[in-house]
Amino acid sequence: MPLARAKIVVAVGGGIAAYKAAELVRLLDKAGAHVEVAMTSRAQKFIGPMTFQALTRRPVFTDLFSLADEGQIGHIQLADRADLVIVAPATANVIARLAAGMADDAVSAIVLATRAPVLLAPSMNVNMWNHPVTQQNIRRLADVAGYRVVGPGDGFLACRWTGPGRLAEPADIVEAAAHLLSPQDLAGKKLVVSAGPTYEAIDPVRFVGNRSSGKMGIALAAAAQRRGADVTLVLGPSAVPPPVGVQTRNVETAAQLQWALGDAVKGADAVIMTAAVADYRPAKEAKEKLKRGELGSKMSVALVANPDVLAELGTKRKGKSPLLVGFAAETEDVIANARKKLSAKKCDLIVANDVGEPNAGFSVDTNHVQLVDQNEVVDVPPASKSEVAHRILDKVVAMLTADSTSRKPRRK
Ligand code: PMT
Repeated sequence: MPLARAKIVVAVGGGIAAYKAAELVRLLDKAGAHVEVAMTSRAQKFIGPMTFQALTRRPVFTDLFSLADEGQIGHIQLADRADLVIVAPATANVIARLAAGMADDAVSAIVLATRAPVLLAPSMNVNMWNHPVTQQNIRRLADVAGYRVVGPGDGFLACRWTGPGRLAEPADIVEAAAHLLSPQDLAGKKLVVSAGPTYEAIDPVRFVGNRSSGKMGIALAAAAQRRGADVTLVLGPSAVPPPVGVQTRNVETAAQLQWALGDAVKGADAVIMTAAVADYRPAKEAKEKLKRGELGSKMSVALVANPDVLAELGTKRKGKSPLLVGFAAETEDVIANARKKLSAKKCDLIVANDVGEPNAGFSVDTNHVQLVDQNEVVDVPPASKSEVAHRILDKVVAMLTADSTSRKPRRK
């Protein structure tokens, strides 16, 4: 399940890192999750419930013995509707109470009652963390209850000690949460994703490029990694950071992209070509910057065709070749053009992208695509690029599964 559809309870323990839970809640909310917060009474000494109420626009669960909250046995309802419970910060005290199976405050009661996965983000003094009892408690929660742990980070702590004990960065906790929520249906699979534009130099300062930001391909790489795949991302010039943990090969030109892909696709199960590869490049790259004065009032740049990387992968494949997914950025006759590319480039699937549609295609955070294969056209409704990436991967998983159960080769 993507974060955008998940119901997540953030259970806040009483430690100095409680203030960072506000950033965690903000990031989860921004990712589209439905977030509710529970706090221990000690957590409320570090940060007020009002902060979380404002961030989530929902009441904060603070009191197990509140007549109002517990009129409908609120803590059980909260535990029941959660898809995931994140305990952040999980202090030594909270961890000990959870390991003992206690349920006498808002946090411990929800964690004990929930059947959802639980993610602990510990934070405490280094000596408390290293204490054999804390270590035993963490192991017990992992082994007996199956709880997952993210962090703690190593560094300078509020107590002036240095070592493990820092709350994991909120973005890393979000990543761990996304991973926990995702089906591991790409585990053991190797995926190669290309993303971003290519830049083809005219001279040392100018280039032929396009409007691709890399966001769609990066979202695909992140989603595939969360679903367990071993992902290689071949990334053209992009200001968007690649996902942590994804092996990334940075390229600039179509020729470099082709070379990097040629290496990466060996042994791959699927290749997804999201990159907006320049179809043409300047015939000659000037060694020095072209000067306006010397060029006169008109200038022309002779272009030569770049290789069609996807078509070459499609036409040259033989034996056990990877599933080949191309994109088609179109502004008219979208499906007809996508079908032409499906057959001309010998792909298994084309993701048709009407880049003339508002809030779809280049640079924006959302997209609207249609999945075109030999049998059908499936509309993926407009959504965030992350959500769209998951829908594309659902199709890839289905095609890989069909492939492994059928004895017929995918293509002759
Ligand atoms: O990066 P974003 O800002 O998030 O934008 C996402 C996107 C709009 C770039 C993406 O969704 C998209 O549509 N990518 C394909 C862009 C493109 O080049 O489309 P095309 O129709 O020109 O090419 C068809 C396919 O052939 C693509 O898979 C492309 O990677 C591949 N190709 C194209 C030219 C070429 N010389 N070699 C190729 O391999």
